[in-house]
Amino acid sequence: MNAKSTVDLSWDEFDELRDPRPAENDFDRVVEAAIARRGLLGGVLAFGSGAMAFGLGAMVPAGSARAQAAAFPFQPIDIATDFDIHVPEGYRWKPLVSWGEALFSEAEGAWSPENGVPVAMSDKVFGENTDGMELFVIDGKEVIAVNSEYVNPKINLPAASEGVPQSAEEVTLLKNMQGVTVMEVADSGNGYEVVVDSPFNRRITHETPMTMDGAAAGSDLVRTKADPEGMSPRGTMNNCGAGRTLWGTYLTCEENFNGLFGATGEMPQGEGYGRYGIGGESQYAYEKFDPRFDISSEPNEPHRHGWITEIDPADPSSTPVKHTALGRFKHENAAMVQAADGRIVVYMGDDERGEFIYRYVSNGTWAEGQPTNGLLTDGTLYVGKFNDDQTGEWLALTPETTGMAPAEMLVFARMAGSKVGATTMDRPEWIACHPQRAEAYCSLTNNSNRGIKSNAGGDATPVGGPNPREANEYGQIVRWRPEGEDHGATAFTWDLYVMAGNPAVHSDAYAGSPNINQGNMFNSPDGMAFDTTGLLWIQTDGDDSNEGDFAGQGNNQMLIGNADTGEIARFLTAPNGAEVTGLCWSADRRVAFVGIQHPGGSWPDGEGKPRSSVIAIWREDGATIG
Ligand code: FEO
Ligand code: CA
Ligand code: CA
Ligand code: CA
Repeated sequence: MNAKSTVDLSWDEFDELRDPRPAENDFDRVVEAAIARRGLLGGVLAFGSGAMAFGLGAMVPAGSARAQAAAFPFQPIDIATDFDIHVPEGYRWKPLVSWGEALFSEAEGAWSPENGVPVAMSDKVFGENTDGMELFVIDGKEVIAVNSEYVNPKINLPAASEGVPQSAEEVTLLKNMQGVTVMEVADSGNGYEVVVDSPFNRRITHETPMTMDGAAAGSDLVRTKADPEGMSPRGTMNNCGAGRTLWGTYLTCEENFNGLFGATGEMPQGEGYGRYGIGGESQYAYEKFDPRFDISSEPNEPHRHGWITEIDPADPSSTPVKHTALGRFKHENAAMVQAADGRIVVYMGDDERGEFIYRYVSNGTWAEGQPTNGLLTDGTLYVGKFNDDQTGEWLALTPETTGMAPAEMLVFARMAGSKVGATTMDRPEWIACHPQRAEAYCSLTNNSNRGIKSNAGGDATPVGGPNPREANEYGQIVRWRPEGEDHGATAFTWDLYVMAGNPAVHSDAYAGSPNINQGNMFNSPDGMAFDTTGLLWIQTDGDDSNEGDFAGQGNNQMLIGNADTGEIARFLTAPNGAEVTGLCWSADRRVAFVGIQHPGGSWPDGEGKPRSSVIAIWREDGATIG
């Protein structure tokens, strides 16, 4: 294993290295010509107000971010390239919690800039690389559940290891720095802080006992030597985006779990390993010290990860549940809404080049105060088909449509999606649902393979529909409206809310849609959430080199979009090296909590190792902020 290079790779690069996609497809490239024929987005007929969305942006003069102030309660800010956070005039920020900070008093002072966190305290502190989060009000207390998506081994491990664990103890340290943190927060009078030793505080790691439900639970595909019943997986992995149920629990979404598994001996047989990018050596060398992660001896262990996992933040002794009915893939987040008849609907993206968007619909219905049993267990999983004419439909994954047994269909949901002809998308990241109307938005962050290579299952990735640019390096946000304004409907119409791009460098489709200009441009939309006023907060995880195709885009950032007019304005810039990911609000909506993942330099301390952190943002005048 070339340790250094593997540790430094992005997930995409890592997957490409271990599991190269099939070469060139034979699909046609006429859509490139189609873009030229229709004019930029001319073929993307916007919904009613959407027509304005593309027109209005074009009327905003290029140049200063301030040109776009009209629709927003803040003065948009310019790009930054430094190692600091910037927010608009009249707003303030400070860290709420950083990697290594104590959740329990026994771990106070455990973190040091030289050595990070000792293994003995590693499950009693805030984990690394903060991601999706939600805030719950429980017995009058504010409790945040927040993901720690992955670790930077070079930061966590002793320098001598060069980022590769050298012992079982070092593997334990890495396992404990990831997963989920549940923590009470309170405004002490000096801004929000973690309530150390709160009875709600909890760490959920790669070793926490879990259970499973749904058709794949207990099946042959998830049984292991340690768990012959296949009902008791351990740990939740690579917790990326998040969601919340309507009944007040947390949904953590397992994304790049494949990178944790390796084979010390022979690879097990099966199409599923390749489709999910599992094989060879893992990213953190877990398999060398823990046979659970060695697929040569535990071929089913990877099948127990890649699920949506429900955690009850109100009960620290509760056992998290992996809901197999929602399918196994690289889950980004989970956006739960209700169908008109009260059934539960969950929209989910599978973040990999050329993978799909999914929708789960429960069989049962729910209303406030009713039991929730079975709502995430008994239901149907669908995949999205987006037609070039801006219509679309949800294709049900059933034994009849896929020819697969129920458990197999869920464990290998990607393969089931391929069988029914789902649309290959440009890396579906977060999905956010409009709070006032039936409309869902999904970040398609970028796709270097669009129009160049098929997905890992061999499905073509033609340029067209909601994925209109070859080798898409900027990303776009697709939105759909279900028929009859009912999230339970099978049919929908779609348009593009925005195509990110760089009008300073390009004058074709790569300049972006008309609501992009030199004052608000960005690349790689990722995290997204609507606030209660109907504004869409958009976080980026892209190229922050500020060079070449990304010149003038600066560091990663958070923008706020108006869903009605299409206007988009820059609200925050992150330290160089960081992505912005994860967003929730205080109960009184006066504070927004925002995640800053993998910062560079020595942010936020100004010296020593960089520390991923959740920050609090508020208005100086004390008004609400979304
Ligand atoms: Fe963890 Fe797709 O972002
Ligand atoms: Ca993401
Ligand atoms: Ca990321
Ligand atoms: Ca991303």
